[in-house]
Amino acid sequence: MEKIINLILGLFNLRLIKTTHLKNISNNLGYISAKETVKSAQQEGLSVCDYVEKIWNQVGETKKVIDSMEKLGVFEKINPTVCEIGTGTGRYMEKFIEKCNPERYESYETAQDWSDWLNKNYNIISLETNGHSLKNTKDNSIDIIHSHGVFVYLPFFDSLRYFKEIERVTSTNSYIIFDCITDDCLNKKSLNKWLNSDYNFPRILPEKYIFDFFPSNKYKLIGKFFTPYGQGKSKYFVFKRTDLDQ
Ligand SMILES: C[S@@+](CC[C@H](N)C(=O)[O-])C[C@H]1O[C@@H](n2cnc3c(N)ncnc32)[C@H](O)[C@@H]1O
Repeated sequence: MEKIINLILGLFNLRLIKTTHLKNISNNLGYISAKETVKSAQQEGLSVCDYVEKIWNQVGETKKVIDSMEKLGVFEKINPTVCEIGTGTGRYMEKFIEKCNPERYESYETAQDWSDWLNKNYNIISLETNGHSLKNTKDNSIDIIHSHGVFVYLPFFDSLRYFKEIERVTSTNSYIIFDCITDDCLNKKSLNKWLNSDYNFPRILPEKYIFDFFPSNKYKLIGKFFTPYGQGKSKYFVFKRTDLDQ
């Protein structure tokens, strides 16, 4: 069937391609459906967080990341203002809220079904998203901004656009936490596992650009750690804004 369709499309210089690399991961690129995921979690008697941890073979990993953030002092402020990019199923959001009871929690999520679901089920604000800006968030208004499993696959320029926006919405003493895939996440073994999988979505983000956008005279790197991700691992960066040059 695919061949026939491609023969016809070929007349117009077009071709049908499979998007297997989007399997189960991300969004306009094909993220898991909110309705089906919530239903399956309910059928198994699990919370959505526990359910997705189970299907993604990541049991306990969300808590580990939140605990690492806590050890680094991210939750020092009570009732902070928070922004999350790519909140998805809300599995980090849920544990995050338990830790520090945010005064305001803004979420930018491109999958409309999850964005609506989060808005309905939690005390957060799902903001309109264009995939690269935080345009509905005020300058200098955010104490903690975080993102999990998003910069691992965003187009390079969109990651950098978000970094610029992070600078705009944070101020002195704000925390910035995100993971991405840097060179050192890919050793020979994990690279082979990725190559032997159907997945093509990861994007490598060289550390150089991270430190160009979060320079040491303005941001103190207070922690880096790895977490299991896909066929290998991703690397977390935790910065605290110091604005030493001001
Ligand atoms: C792999 S999921 C991770 C979800 C959640 N943070 C977690 O770790 O379980 C990536 C999430 O980012 C969202 N997303 C994809 N592109 C985005 C973009 N440009 N801006 C904001 N969110 C995006 C997807 O819809 C999805 O919810």
